Amino acid sequence: MNSDVLVVGSANADLVVAVDRRPGGGETVLGGDTVLSPGGKGANTAVAAGRLGADVALLGAVGDDPYGRLLLDSLRAAGVDTGLVRTSERPTGIAYITVTPDGENAILVSPGANSSLTPGDVDAVFDGVQVMVVSLEVPLPTVEHAVARAAEEGVKVLLNLSPAAKLSAETLAKLDVLLVNEHEAAWLTGPGADFRQLLALGPRAAVVTLGADGAVVVEAEGVTEVASPKVEAVDTTGAGDGFAGALAASLAEGADLVTAAKRAVRVAAFSVTRHGAQPSYPTAAELGE
Ligand code: RIB
Ligand code: NA
Repeated sequence: MNSDVLVVGSANADLVVAVDRRPGGGETVLGGDTVLSPGGKGANTAVAAGRLGADVALLGAVGDDPYGRLLLDSLRAAGVDTGLVRTSERPTGIAYITVTPDGENAILVSPGANSSLTPGDVDAVFDGVQVMVVSLEVPLPTVEHAVARAAEEGVKVLLNLSPAAKLSAETLAKLDVLLVNEHEAAWLTGPGADFRQLLALGPRAAVVTLGADGAVVVEAEGVTEVASPKVEAVDTTGAGDGFAGALAASLAEGADLVTAAKRAVRVAAFSVTRHGAQPSYPTAAELGE
């Protein structure tokens, strides 16, 4: 018997440096002290769901190195089942992150072990799973196979299109929920298009995150805006992953998509008020539930 929520995705050590501004080509800029923190879009999503009390597992890969152990510790501390996290010969993925004073981040990822995830790894892992969440820092053939297999097994499929990548029409048509930010939405439909056009690409529903402005839920029955609480952002790294984890946790509990999105907006807003990705996700109690 597997967990209710299965996250398929990356785990990275985040090396975070605060900068006044980012260097251009050929330029050197001095920043603050390096802060090491557990990250990666998949691991972040799993930890966010775990903090909320979801029964969740991560399927991923780390290296046999201190960063891999840091990630396993963070996942386990959040109650995430790590039985499907493989140890690879490649080093643990690393994300080099700069954060500017407005809380915005820019990220360079060295995928390492995350690149070793194959379609075979995701072939037979869906028994008992209610919701699968997948993001795109792992090889595309693995993502597409995971979506196809989950759909075959009747598992609800949530895909976080981050970082943006071109998916086949077949894969898009198998999604229950396509999760995108404004930029990814515009990249998919063309700038200025109505969010409703996302459904024409094939998913049953779409959720568009709008940062401080909350999110929009797009379903065949209509479009619902979900407002965000106003907060002081210090670090937006991993806010979208936290949103995905909260959405999956609520869907696995049987919530409808709008109810799930309301909770996800609150989790994302909470997370931007704290530094780092995984260390910033709230428990249900911290959310005031
Ligand atoms: O989405 C945020 C994440 O992107 C960071 O934790 C970093 O690891 C990169 O994967
Ligand atoms: Na944060």
